[in-house]
Amino acid sequence: MKILVIGGGGREHALVWKLKQSPLVEKIWCAPGNGGIADEAECMAIDAGDVAAVIALAEKIRPDLTVVGPELPLVNGLTDAFRQRKWLIVGPSKEAAQLEGSKIFSKKFLERHRIPTAKMYGTYDSAAKACGALSKVKWPVVIKADGLCAGKGVFLAANREEASDFIKRVMEKNELGTGGQRILLEETLEGEELSFIILTDGTNYATLVPTRDHKRVFDGDRGPNTGGMGAYSSDDLLPEELRTTVVSKIVEPTLRGLTKDGTPYQGFLYVGLMLTKSGPKVLEFNCRLGDPETQAIVARMDFDLAGVVKDVAEGKLDASKLRWKSGASVCVVLASGGYPGKFETGKRIEGLTSVGPNTGVKILHAGTKREGSTVTTSGGRVLGVTTSGSSLNAALSAAYKACTKIRFEGMHYRKDIGARASR
Ligand code: AMP
Ligand code: GLY
Repeated sequence: MKILVIGGGGREHALVWKLKQSPLVEKIWCAPGNGGIADEAECMAIDAGDVAAVIALAEKIRPDLTVVGPELPLVNGLTDAFRQRKWLIVGPSKEAAQLEGSKIFSKKFLERHRIPTAKMYGTYDSAAKACGALSKVKWPVVIKADGLCAGKGVFLAANREEASDFIKRVMEKNELGTGGQRILLEETLEGEELSFIILTDGTNYATLVPTRDHKRVFDGDRGPNTGGMGAYSSDDLLPEELRTTVVSKIVEPTLRGLTKDGTPYQGFLYVGLMLTKSGPKVLEFNCRLGDPETQAIVARMDFDLAGVVKDVAEGKLDASKLRWKSGASVCVVLASGGYPGKFETGKRIEGLTSVGPNTGVKILHAGTKREGSTVTTSGGRVLGVTTSGSSLNAALSAAYKACTKIRFEGMHYRKDIGARASR
């Protein structure tokens, strides 16, 4: 099988690494890929969000199967264009990808199908209307820009002043672009967050192992939000009873609802949950795998991913094929100095070869570029130091040992990934 993977971050490196281990796979292309993926696949320099460019590439190389990593090509309708041509692809249609592409669509979907979620106060298409509604909310309040905003579209406002400042920046100064033309206000949920991702072919579904992301930049969940500074997976994250509740009250009603609405879902569906005192509730849907959650998930896979994604594309997913290593896994993200604010790129990365395969640790690349024999930084999240172990403590100690071997100017990482759970 010849596979094309769309994207170029840590998530896509994890997918390429795992797909390559399959005896079914003869060749992998990755578009655009990165400095680490280049060791394992042929990188094709195109913009992943540009549907016409991906179609032109696929016409040329003729992959047997395409797997989409990021949301933008999905929201832009890439899979619809592939399916029209009868090309096999894993990922939801443009319509179903609205679950991530529009927070208002997603909230209305949750309400219509009575799936537990934060209560919405309302949706607004002007700053004046949104600010007017602030007299009726409980504080703190969550403000969500409707469209894709590269992770910057959600704000937890402690008071009226913070809320109206964010609303004006988004709706009047257009700081988030077109994604901020409409907003919604909703109640703030309290509890621990959990990422629960499923894979479905539209009829059958399989759940992946649960993960927890660490979104804030600094230890102790301090500082601004990032794309994710690290993730871990362990079965303890989701005890059996809670898992049954999530599946029966959230996962199955979601899949049934999508089919009933005429938008059956195929691909990975990320359910972002808040485990509240009154049960699990949906914070958000993503129409794709998470990053860095995928790195931790892949580290626990004990099955042939290529065979399973092919089954999904052909509509014959068999959930019993998904087998998982017991124990735990972790991914620690090494980031550029200044990230998630302004940062410099082009810093030479040292020590990559000192973490060999014998350590059981895999260095997955996110924002890197290869220039001859040197690898330099090219993004905010640079590397994901990833490993599995018999326990969370074992995985953490192997990953953190490897982190000390890698250096680049300005490098920083959280020292407390999984720390609360490992105590
Ligand atoms: P989203 O962009 O919807 O993924 O939201 C990003 C993050 O905002 C989530 O991972 C949560 O940490 C937080 N968040 C979103 N909605 C809520 C809510 N209703 N209550 C508390 N936190 C929330
Ligand atoms: N790590 C969160 C996400 O992928 O959206």
